Amino acid sequence: MSGRALVVGVTGISGGNLAQRLLADGWEVAGLCRRPEGLDQRITPIAADLLDAEAVSAAVRGSAPTHVFFTTWSRRATEAENCDVNGRMLQNLLDATAAEGSVRHVALVTGLKHYLGPFEAYATVQPDTPFSEDQPRLPYENFYYVQEDILFAAAERDGFTWSVHRPHTLIGWALGNAMNMGVTLAVYAAICRETGRGFHFPGSHEQWEAVTDVTDAGLLADHLVWAATTPAAANHALNIVNGDVFRWRRLWPRLAAALSVDPVPFSGEPAPLEQQMADAGEIWPEIVRRHGLRDLGVDSLASWWHTDADLGRTVETFTDMGHSRRLGFLGVRDSESSFTGLFARLRAERIVP
Ligand SMILES: NC(=O)c1ccc[n+]([C@@H]2O[C@H](COP(=O)([O-])OP(=O)(O)OC[C@H]3O[C@@H](n4cnc5c(N)ncnc54)[C@H](OP(=O)(O)O)[C@@H]3O)[C@@H](O)[C@H]2O)c1
Repeated sequence: MSGRALVVGVTGISGGNLAQRLLADGWEVAGLCRRPEGLDQRITPIAADLLDAEAVSAAVRGSAPTHVFFTTWSRRATEAENCDVNGRMLQNLLDATAAEGSVRHVALVTGLKHYLGPFEAYATVQPDTPFSEDQPRLPYENFYYVQEDILFAAAERDGFTWSVHRPHTLIGWALGNAMNMGVTLAVYAAICRETGRGFHFPGSHEQWEAVTDVTDAGLLADHLVWAATTPAAANHALNIVNGDVFRWRRLWPRLAAALSVDPVPFSGEPAPLEQQMADAGEIWPEIVRRHGLRDLGVDSLASWWHTDADLGRTVETFTDMGHSRRLGFLGVRDSESSFTGLFARLRAERIVP
């Protein structure tokens, strides 16, 4: 089954990989963001700032999507602002598409901060693991909860089915997006190799030792398409991770080998990338020049803060996929390959040496 998809946040790590999957399956795809530049030519670009309700409604007019995939967010200084801004972005979009009268399903991508708490109260208490969709909401403000409630109200008002997708750290192709651990580690390794610095695991002792998981952005795309087209999956909030588990203490040296750097033995203490890479902006242009790379700017490629936050957690973080499995989603990915596949593409496309 295919239809007319509107991918909101089409240049991001979730949206970009989803758009490719939809095209491969024969969907008509329109993609919305503020700067829809360099898009696959088969995607109809829709440029609008989701915070501008009138602009969104004008931009979306006539697109008549059957399926809406909301794969975007905006990072603000406080969770109160995150709730306000990200709530309005979703509300404006759903009001605009409601006027089209064509929408059958809306999928919303949120994440494991549903269980871990927002950045300002992040992973302060140990939630029960593995994370399960039926765990109660945490007693903190959280823009994911605001967005879910807006989605549920609009589904009631407009008569569409919905799905909510909760990935862990996304590993996959995207350039210049807000949070991308795979690209961040590839850039970090390149800088270590070129400058002779040690390649340190930047995170906590707890993450080094614990069982954890990640989400391949391609698998999230599969999950989004499956839920949007499978009646049994309608009106469910669903975790989505690769389906294997690993410990960073095993994966880190393997990723180092894939990135052609020697890992420094873990000291037991965090070594945040934001501090290690404080001078990356001065170092990167020379690496770009020496290797003839595409000059995208290290600050646009690497999200040091996000990888530090992810790997610096002191709570155990892994995720139950049982609910999706019981509804019929059988997709799995090998997490090491999620990273190494991305590293190979980053080299092939001259993003890292
Ligand atoms: N990345 C991860 O590792 C990760 C992990 C778990 C959960 N999540 C969650 O997944 C969801 C989707 O995030 P993502 O990481 O896929 O996003 P992303 O890669 O940062 O991409 C964001 C997309 O939204 C567009 N956008 C941003 N602000 C906009 C605005 N005001 N108006 C219109 N378009 C706008 C961006 O393009 P323009 O800048 O051109 O507008 C881009 O296309 C979020 O809830 C996030 O918290 C992400």
